Amino acid sequence: MPHDFMPGLAGVPAATSSISDVDGQRGILEYRGIRVEELCAKSSYLETAYLLLFGHLPTASEYQRWTNDVTHHRRIKFRIIDLMKCLPEQGHAMDALQAAVAALGMFYPGRNVKDVENNYWSAVRLVAKLPTIVAAWARLRYGDAPIPPRDDLGFSENFFYMLTESAPHPLWAEIFDDCLILHAEHTMNASTFTGLVTASTLADPYTVVASSIGALKGPLHGGANEEVVVMLKEIGTADRARSYVEGVLSNKRKLMGFGHRVYKVKDPRATVLQGLCQSLFKECGSSPLYEVALEVERAAGELLKGKGIHPNVDFYSGIIYDKMGIEVDLFTPLFAMARVSGWLAHWLEQLRENKLFRPDQIYSGEHNRPYVPLTQR
Ligand code: CMC
Repeated sequence: MPHDFMPGLAGVPAATSSISDVDGQRGILEYRGIRVEELCAKSSYLETAYLLLFGHLPTASEYQRWTNDVTHHRRIKFRIIDLMKCLPEQGHAMDALQAAVAALGMFYPGRNVKDVENNYWSAVRLVAKLPTIVAAWARLRYGDAPIPPRDDLGFSENFFYMLTESAPHPLWAEIFDDCLILHAEHTMNASTFTGLVTASTLADPYTVVASSIGALKGPLHGGANEEVVVMLKEIGTADRARSYVEGVLSNKRKLMGFGHRVYKVKDPRATVLQGLCQSLFKECGSSPLYEVALEVERAAGELLKGKGIHPNVDFYSGIIYDKMGIEVDLFTPLFAMARVSGWLAHWLEQLRENKLFRPDQIYSGEHNRPYVPLTQR
């Protein structure tokens, strides 16, 4: 095998980017040079999305315009709702989201990606409409009518309102907003790369985001947040955690929510999410899942010692969403709702010097085989 073939493109740069940076040895994640911990403490999801998309923290007037634009584009066309009504209710929420986002591209102009003004409106629409689609699907599958967005509510508050018809406790909205910040961007991950491959053909941004949603769904990527909560529920009680972890490792299976291609220490997002769990529990009581998770982390720490495998972003996020009463198969769509700003930031960045992705392969098949007629095979 030639020395330059890297399975999974591990360590191979696919772009030059100034959007985010990960220091996997020290556990540092920055968006446009600002640490995520600081953004969680001081910023909001919408402001962070602006930072990612346009490279700087918005001035007061820029922020006002951005917030107004996103707020006024939250509604979705009744035909998108009708499309979702036709999907099987037992289907996965990520598939419904992907289908609805792909269909958005049939309603809005997106083909001319050289049009800077139009690209701005595509970004506004996608950031604004993903939460509406997720909340609509969560209700439609039970035969309930979607709840239209309320313009007087902030981004995260409005999402809860569309889900439950009541505005959430302010602390919930704040914690949820922090979760969105933590999921908004993460360098050249699989879903971002997928979106960039699609974008490199100059496809419209709705197709780009639909491609990224497809890649995010898998359990090795965003789908892990769902698997973690399923695992914690299966373990049930903290005293069963160690034997469960031993069983997973002795069967050479992967412990969901652990390990990362880049981080060799605990993912800084997992640390912030753990703090958010504690703030939430102080207000609304603890979660049995959290006790199990702590024990899983402790057991994994001992059994995987020295291997550089630690909790990642997907380990603690689901515990928060579960405590907030959100259904498990909506966890990865929540990830997509946040990550859309990162995907679009990379899309805009790549458009400035676009080059079609067309990698090479190492052919390992035969040559000059004769064609054997059907009757002789
Ligand atoms: N549990 C047990 N062993 C693990 C784990 C894990 N979660 N992750 C990695 N390893 C071991 C793996 O078995 C291998 O061991 P060995 O060298 O003895 O064969 C070694 O570590 C390297 O693993 P790898 O799968 O080749 O490494 P990778 O960089 O390709 O994988 C990963 C990264 C995220 C796919 C992997 O850690 C994994 O499958 N984790 C579980 C799924 C998960 O939590 N995914 C979320 C990732 S972070 C957020 C996101 O992207 O959404």
